[in-house]
Amino acid sequence: MAAADTAAPMLLFTDIDEPGLATREVYERRGGYESLRRALAMSPEDVLAQLEASGLRGRGGAGFAMGKKVSFLPKGAMDKYLVCNADESEPGTFKDRELMQKSPHMLVEGIVIASYAAGATRSFIYIRGEYVLQADALDAALAEAREAGYVGDDILGSGHSLTLVVHRGAGAYICGEETGLLDSLEGKRGNPRLKPPFPANQGLYQGPTLINNVETLATVPAIIRMGGEEYAKLGVETSTGTKLVSVSGHVQRPGNYEIELGIPSREIVYGLAGGPPEGRGVKCWFPGGSSSPVLTADDLDLPYDFDTLAKAGSMLGSGAIIVVDDATPILDVAMKTAKFYRHESCGKCTPCREGTNWTVKMLERIDAGEATPMDLEIMASVQEHIIGNCLCVLGDAMAMPIGSMIAKFKDELEAHMERARLRRGSGDRIASDSALAAQGALANDPRTMLGATGAGDQAPGAHEGAPGTHRGGA
Ligand SMILES: Cc1cc2nc3c(=O)[nH]c(=O)nc-3n(C[C@H](O)[C@H](O)[C@H](O)COP(=O)(O)O)c2cc1C
Ligand code: SF4
Repeated sequence: MAAADTAAPMLLFTDIDEPGLATREVYERRGGYESLRRALAMSPEDVLAQLEASGLRGRGGAGFAMGKKVSFLPKGAMDKYLVCNADESEPGTFKDRELMQKSPHMLVEGIVIASYAAGATRSFIYIRGEYVLQADALDAALAEAREAGYVGDDILGSGHSLTLVVHRGAGAYICGEETGLLDSLEGKRGNPRLKPPFPANQGLYQGPTLINNVETLATVPAIIRMGGEEYAKLGVETSTGTKLVSVSGHVQRPGNYEIELGIPSREIVYGLAGGPPEGRGVKCWFPGGSSSPVLTADDLDLPYDFDTLAKAGSMLGSGAIIVVDDATPILDVAMKTAKFYRHESCGKCTPCREGTNWTVKMLERIDAGEATPMDLEIMASVQEHIIGNCLCVLGDAMAMPIGSMIAKFKDELEAHMERARLRRGSGDRIASDSALAAQGALANDPRTMLGATGAGDQAPGAHEGAPGTHRGGA
């Protein structure tokens, strides 16, 4: 596969490897905080108009238009809040980590500009507890920004004031869900709230709250610098601009890449990330983190943008592409996915609490040779009943990918079931494997190939193993 064209624009990663970029001195030398000065010379309404014109959609998962969200905040003199979601716990996602660690001032600048447009005077960065380095980098940048008068009272003489606090979470996936995050920030257990009311009307401390992802807010300075309409020329009509993608799993060059939205997915998976190891093909890929329904190798030519992926039955989500190669049993992928969501379910609502647990148990039954093909049908229908029936979308986040795996890899799952049943019938697994192999029953068994390669030990998208960083345009 030819290398992707690297001439495409980069906005967030332009200077990312510049030594010392995390310091104010280097950030300013590269043009940092110029957008803030420009924004403060405009009216808040004009800044908001630029955000709306840019077409920027949220980069945290749901893809909601950022400018529109800002415009939903009520006008008036009440306290308004801005919260930056830096929880980044979706398996496979590690882009915000790099942004915060290497370019923390870009996020601070974006937050101050967005707070000006929203009329918010108090802001927080809620960062996952495991991100110690990143939180330290943010604390240091914030101290420098305060010293320079970019944060605090009467910012650069504009009359706009903003407090900004970096708040370290205790480490729970559900605290990335915006209302769970708000409860956690208020000092409670991080449980999702019923919506409506939405945070824009009743969020932190019951006040109007703008909540956005790190990458969304870090894009704001580029929009003010270029102008919203110029920004909207990048990408495709309903997916404007550039996007950071985290590519992990079975690829040769895992890492974060900045791409222009709308490029063929194949250019990301093969062109930038190098595709699966020699001799392997793509079995399936999660286009937007472990919550997204899987797509197959046949979908690799789809343009990578919000609407195309939604039409294909999946989603762009957080932009985390997890590649699974053809030597990996789909049951292992399903099991890892379901176990993650079972572990992270807050337990507040029944379909999610019971459904995630039940799904893991059913997958274990398949693996143990205790299931029948009818169980697969029941599993598929249970996933359908979870979707749309939970308080937040964590339940759906398990049901959607598991449902897609059952639909797309039914034959493989049935074969897995049958082999497991035969093994079970003949007692000891190792003995039965060799007996079955002698009968030819294990020819093409991905599990035997897995034993030889150890590939199954790689959790697709395992967060802890977040790979090194590579980048390029698209
Ligand atoms: C279970 C769950 C976990 C989430 N985790 C994150 C996260 O770690 N980071 C994030 O930005 N958004 C996360 N979201 C999405 C947020 O609820 C929210 O949509 C997002 O912060 C809005 O910002 P954006 O519009 O800039 O994308 C999560 C959602 C759910 C349901
Ligand atoms: S869907 Fe799951 S995580 Fe969300 S509120 Fe219900 S039990 Fe909790």
